[in-house]
Amino acid sequence: MEVVILPDPAAIASLAADAVGALLAGRPTAVLGLATGSSPVAIYDELAARYAAGTLSFAAARAFTLDEYVGLPADHPETYRNVIDAVFVSRVDFAPGAVQGPDGLAADIPAACAAYEAAIADAGGVDLQILGIGTDGHIGFNEPGSSLASRTRIKTLARQTRIDNARFFDDDIDAVPTHCLTQGLATIMDARHVVLVAIGENKAEAVEHLVEGPVSARWPATILQHHRHVTVLLDEDAAHRLQLADYYREAYRGKPKWQGI
Ligand code: GLP
Repeated sequence: MEVVILPDPAAIASLAADAVGALLAGRPTAVLGLATGSSPVAIYDELAARYAAGTLSFAAARAFTLDEYVGLPADHPETYRNVIDAVFVSRVDFAPGAVQGPDGLAADIPAACAAYEAAIADAGGVDLQILGIGTDGHIGFNEPGSSLASRTRIKTLARQTRIDNARFFDDDIDAVPTHCLTQGLATIMDARHVVLVAIGENKAEAVEHLVEGPVSARWPATILQHHRHVTVLLDEDAAHRLQLADYYREAYRGKPKWQGI
């Protein structure tokens, strides 16, 4: 796990966009994993800016989103499908149908989850997964207690997550769906490179567990300690509880230039 502590979201976005750019330059047909939430928004802004500048194209790429609320009408602005379209997909040149997400309106939810796993596998798996982290340590919507071996399935949202996300539903927690479909922890672990971004003081506890805590379903993101290629991009506030912060800074400063993230 590489921990990179940067001064602000713009610096984080630039570094993450460099990694996406390097991937697509080497393989234009690469498969991206896209997360919703506010943390990756600056990354999507940067990627859209590079597309507008003509230095990056997604025309041959594909992408899979992590999760979706169950039961929100398809035209609801807060379905994760509509959110990812608004903040990123509609601003760049993905081909029609190139971006898929779990179907939160499926009549047969287990079948839809199995089909989603199959679609990711058929695409050759995710090359680079962009991730956020919840204040309770969830990734995707894998809440505390999630099986570390889980695949795409239905989950009940934790009350804390519904409180956190009420800001997108006019601060009405009762309007936040109670269930979601999410890629499992094992699904996320299959991605070849995971780039997790956390910004702000309210993520510091989850980040402390993620980076320096024991691996436990209590803090689901800790499973990433078992992944071979994880990059954790943090601002100073999100990093402030890390005991080894100085070491992470020194290691990043001293990296060979060719190495990338
Ligand atoms: C949601 C999403 C996660 C995201 C988390 C944090 O619960 N399902 O994928 O990482 O929120 O969101 P934010 O980045 O807005 O803090």
